[in-house]
Amino acid sequence: MAKSQSEKYGGDWTKRKLEMLRAYLNAYTTALKNKPFKLLYIDAFAGTGSVELPAKGIDGTREIVQFVDDSARDVIEGSAMIATKIYNKKFDELIFIEQNKKRCQDLKALAKRYASRNIRVKQAEANAFLVELCQSWQAERGASWRGVLFLDPFGAQVKWTTIESIANTKAMDMWIWIPVSGLSRMLPVDKKPEDISGTLAQTLDKVFGGAHREKFYKIQIDLFQEPRSSRARGVEMIRTVYKDQLWDVFGARLLKDSRLFYNDKGSPSFEFVFCTGSENEKAITLAHKIASHIIKAKE
Ligand SMILES: C[S@@+](CC[C@H](N)C(=O)[O-])C[C@H]1O[C@@H](n2cnc3c(N)ncnc32)[C@H](O)[C@@H]1O
Repeated sequence: MAKSQSEKYGGDWTKRKLEMLRAYLNAYTTALKNKPFKLLYIDAFAGTGSVELPAKGIDGTREIVQFVDDSARDVIEGSAMIATKIYNKKFDELIFIEQNKKRCQDLKALAKRYASRNIRVKQAEANAFLVELCQSWQAERGASWRGVLFLDPFGAQVKWTTIESIANTKAMDMWIWIPVSGLSRMLPVDKKPEDISGTLAQTLDKVFGGAHREKFYKIQIDLFQEPRSSRARGVEMIRTVYKDQLWDVFGARLLKDSRLFYNDKGSPSFEFVFCTGSENEKAITLAHKIASHIIKAKE
């Protein structure tokens, strides 16, 4: 069934992101094939199992248009479908979290088609569900489970407290899609850290954790030789600070290489970042080698 225009999102970067996820899931399950772990896949912003991209216009850019010829439709497998179809070594359990009721119905239909698989569809707020799952990890799954978590929000939905809980499990590899241009738009350029207050301060604390504001804003001497607090324009600082914060939580489990994605107009828009779950040195080295290879691969 054709999706309504409002349900279409993404661009060429969506295809690339999902192919990177597919490559990692294939390599991860293959690497753990003969290990005694049970494997869990969690899709925290799961969508429907398929993605319909906005159609391409004649100039090659994608835009939401009112009427689309069926031949111009661009529908690809979404992350939930990709994970379900990892066959070399299948995931023992898949959890798809999605807040939207209609999208959950699509996910349930997917789960029904693969009824022999252990697929749970949860209509829930991703942060709340994940924190609970992570906090009960030791009691419920102990050392016998390993997992891969995909965090693929539309915007600034992932809370820092959720990231901390994920890191604490020491068992879940994480791919996170960070909307760096969206975050950059939220951060005023000329401000003193202490002048950011109210809803904006709450949102920033939610997304970046505690001590981020001082990292963004630096005192510089302006043209009139006056000290002025401002942050560097663009996304570079956002990338640095977010990864800095990840380093504080994941330490050497954060893979320093990451992939920056550009939108159709050539502006840097998203960053795809990987962290290993396990603290075991050999596991980190192997996971980083695989993820780094995927990040650096040409299209
Ligand atoms: C970018 S889409 C995910 C696409 C999906 N990974 C795929 O490849 O098909 C983001 C999804 O997250 C859902 N969502 C947004 N906020 C959420 C939240 N707080 N908790 C759970 N799901 C949420 C949206 O309804 C949407 O389906």
